[in-house]
Amino acid sequence: MDFKRLETAELTGKRVIVRVDFNVPRHPDGKIADETRIDAALPTLKYLKDKGAKIILLSHFGRPKGARVPEMSLDFIQPILADKLACDVSFSDKIEAASVEHLPDGGVLLLENTRFDARETAGDEELAKAYAAMGDIFVQDAFSTAHRAHASSAVIAKFLPAYAGLAMERELDHLSLALDNPKAPVMAVVGGAKVSTKIDLLNNLVKKLDRLAIGGGMANTFLAALGHNVGKSLCEHDLKPLALEIMESAKAENCEIILPFDLVVAKTFKAHAESRVCDLESVKPDEMILDAGPETVNLLADAIDSSNTLIWNGPLGAFEITPFDTSTVEAAKYAVSRVQSVGLVAVAGGGDTVSAMKHAGVANDLTFISTAGGAFLEWMEGKTLPGVEILLK
Ligand code: 3PG
Repeated sequence: MDFKRLETAELTGKRVIVRVDFNVPRHPDGKIADETRIDAALPTLKYLKDKGAKIILLSHFGRPKGARVPEMSLDFIQPILADKLACDVSFSDKIEAASVEHLPDGGVLLLENTRFDARETAGDEELAKAYAAMGDIFVQDAFSTAHRAHASSAVIAKFLPAYAGLAMERELDHLSLALDNPKAPVMAVVGGAKVSTKIDLLNNLVKKLDRLAIGGGMANTFLAALGHNVGKSLCEHDLKPLALEIMESAKAENCEIILPFDLVVAKTFKAHAESRVCDLESVKPDEMILDAGPETVNLLADAIDSSNTLIWNGPLGAFEITPFDTSTVEAAKYAVSRVQSVGLVAVAGGGDTVSAMKHAGVANDLTFISTAGGAFLEWMEGKTLPGVEILLK
C-alpha cells in the first residue's frame, strides 16, 4: 500500500498533532486492564521527541456523546504516559493554538477526550480546523479509529499534511500482506457468536480466499442451514438462507468452506459443565454446541498446513469458559507452530480475537496482531477506511 510514511516528513521544531487511540479497557476501580494501545503509540512518540517535534495528542475515550462525563476524562492517561516517556506531559481541555506556544521541542501535550465535543463524531470541519490550527503536521497513528470519519481522525487532514505514524505503518504493512497482496494460498478463520455481524465480511472474504473456516456460534447457523440439528445452541435460524447463499458464492469463487466436523456439547453454559464430544448428527434437543471437537482441530491443522497466509478473526468456541476454549487454543497454537517452522504469515485482529489469542498464550508469536476492533472488521469487509484514505498517495 502506497501511503505517506513518517520518515518522509520534516519534523524538527514542528508542531505535530498525533491521533492516538487511548480508548483502553479499565476495571471498575479505574485501573487500566490492558495498556497495549498506549504502548502501541510509544514508538511514534519517541521518534517525534527524538526529532525535536512538539507533540499534541488527540484521542477519544468511550462514547460520551458530546457531554463532559468526568469519569471519561483522559486525565488518567497523563501520569502513565509521563512515566512511559520519562518526560513531563501537559494536559489541557482547551482547543487553542496558545496552549502549544510554550511547549518545548520534544514536549508533549495531551488534549481532553475528543468526544466531549459533539462536533467530533459529526466530522465537523470547524472543529477539525480548530485542531489543525494547533499544528503544522498531522500524524494518524490509530488504525483502530480509522473506520471513523471523525474530526480528529480524518477531517483534520483537509487542513494539514497527513502522515502515517509508526503503529499505523505496521498495521497497514501487515494487513496488506494478509489480504491485499498475500502469498497464496490464503485461509481465514472467522469465529464469533453471530453471522448477522459478519455478513459483509464473509461475502468479501469468499471472493478473496482459498479457504474459509467458520467457527464459534456463527457456525451453528451454517450447520442448521445444512439440515443439522443444533439443539438449543445459539443459532440465527432466520439467517439460514443467507448462510446457504454465502456457501453458494464461495463455491462459485472456488473458496473452500470449512465447518466444524465434530462438536463439544453441554446442557449448561458454565465453566466445567459436563460435556461430551459428538458428531454432527448426534446433538440432542437439550444440548448446546459450545466448541469444535478434536477432529475439527485436525482438519484446521491440515488446512493451515496447505496455506501460506492466515487471517484470524474471532474465537472458535465459548473460549471464556473452560473447557470450551480448547479448539481455539489448540488451533491458535498450531498456527504459531507453522509461523515458526515454515514462515506462515498469520495476522489476527478484531473484537474478541486479541483476548482469545492472549488466552491461548500466542499473542506475541503471531506474525502480527492488530490493536483494532471495528476497524479490523471493516478492513476485512473490504471497505475504505476514512482514516487510512487520507494517508494514501
Ligand atoms: C475501538 O475501541 O474499537 C476504537 O477505540 C473505536 O471506538 P468506537 O467504536 O467507540 O469508535
